Amino acid sequence: MATSTLDTIDILTPDLYVERGYPHEEWTLLRREAPVFWYERENCAPFWAITRHADIITVSRQPELFRATQRLFATIDEPGVPPPEEALLRQLLNMNPPEHGAYRAVVSRRFTPAAVHRLAGHVQEIARQLIDEIADREECDFVTEVSAKLPLAVIAEMFGIPRSDWQMMFRLSNAMIGATDPEYMRGGTIMEGLQQARLEFFQYFSHLVEDRRKNPRDDLATALALGRVNSEELPAFELLSYFALLIIAGNETTRNATTGGLFALINNPEQWELLKRDPSLVRSAAEEIIRWTSPVIQFIRAATADTELHGRKIREGDVLALFYPSANRDEDVFDHPFKFDVRRTPNYHLAFGIGEHFCLGANLARLELQMIFREIAARLDQVELAGPIARMRSSFVGGIKHMPIRYKMRARSAA
Ligand code: HEM
Repeated sequence: MATSTLDTIDILTPDLYVERGYPHEEWTLLRREAPVFWYERENCAPFWAITRHADIITVSRQPELFRATQRLFATIDEPGVPPPEEALLRQLLNMNPPEHGAYRAVVSRRFTPAAVHRLAGHVQEIARQLIDEIADREECDFVTEVSAKLPLAVIAEMFGIPRSDWQMMFRLSNAMIGATDPEYMRGGTIMEGLQQARLEFFQYFSHLVEDRRKNPRDDLATALALGRVNSEELPAFELLSYFALLIIAGNETTRNATTGGLFALINNPEQWELLKRDPSLVRSAAEEIIRWTSPVIQFIRAATADTELHGRKIREGDVLALFYPSANRDEDVFDHPFKFDVRRTPNYHLAFGIGEHFCLGANLARLELQMIFREIAARLDQVELAGPIARMRSSFVGGIKHMPIRYKMRARSAA
């Protein structure tokens, strides 16, 4: 947008994300002219917009100085949005040291590279089945039929949640992350929708906890149900919040990387050809897809003391929003940052954050993306859009709700 100026740019209004996708031109302007920018607008509480890679690292690596808060991300003021002090969930992302580390340790060993590696065969089978299910047609909605199902199936399996309940998990997860999108709202205000979804999640997980305490199994639900923090059982609210976090965090993000990844391959046919010709590129391709799509738009932190960042004075209590997709186009870090390049190595993107809150599910997300794109590259001969994509109304997670595609598919054995 040639007319963008620092006084007028808008990087927060969710309707703009629906219409135009990510505001990359605005972020580029900010990185160049005001990388630590006091964003003061009529429609939101003011905050520092942090848009450069190096500054996001500086902030994220000082969890005592820049603390996680009850509110996770900056929003515009709109009717029904919960007030900042309202604690819908109490989970890792709004905890701080030392409590944060103690809680993270409850399940972290289930997400290490070795633990995730053990799931590979299973994730591959789920990816295959999903592609099988669309194989005898030539058109589908890639979001609802493939990319949304993959992470949901994987995390639900890890929890030991029966297949018959997966669809409900999907609906509740949408209702919590897409709370500001009309398609996912179920009547009432945003706050009412969130509270209703939380209630249903909590009721479901309470039964799961009860069951696993009586009949422990080797699954994530049992690890949580029997988990201890400082030798104590987890309090009910924190325990149920933990379940909800793992379901939600694992779903929306990986779904949007998968959809955005195929969208990028459709828009860059030479990259699609490269990947099809050389399947060994799937690792670097998955990493580039994560950089390129950067599904999490922002998380916020609050300064606990007066300090300075990139020459700007930050006061105690100031809120900082870390814009990860902007860091992932930073000209100081990436050669040709606006080129989608499945061979890009190294690829020091920040799509999973960094430091204290670095994404717990990063290894799992990588595995899921590698498996689905390996399958897609092997079996999809031609693919194109069959209609316009529909974006989610959110400036927190960059979501694509629908992506109709037309394709030609090879049978599994021919792949
Ligand atoms: C492409 C997919 C994903 C992306 C882009 C993503 C991104 C992120 C980001 C940006 C953070 C915050 C980092 C920070 O504040 O420094 C985060 C945290 C987290 N993610 Fe992911 N994530 C993805 C997939 C997953 C999956 C599959 C899970 C699995 C359950 C997961 C679970 C979590 C959890 C539990 C946290 C909180 C960690 C903490 O506060 O200690 N994520 N993720």
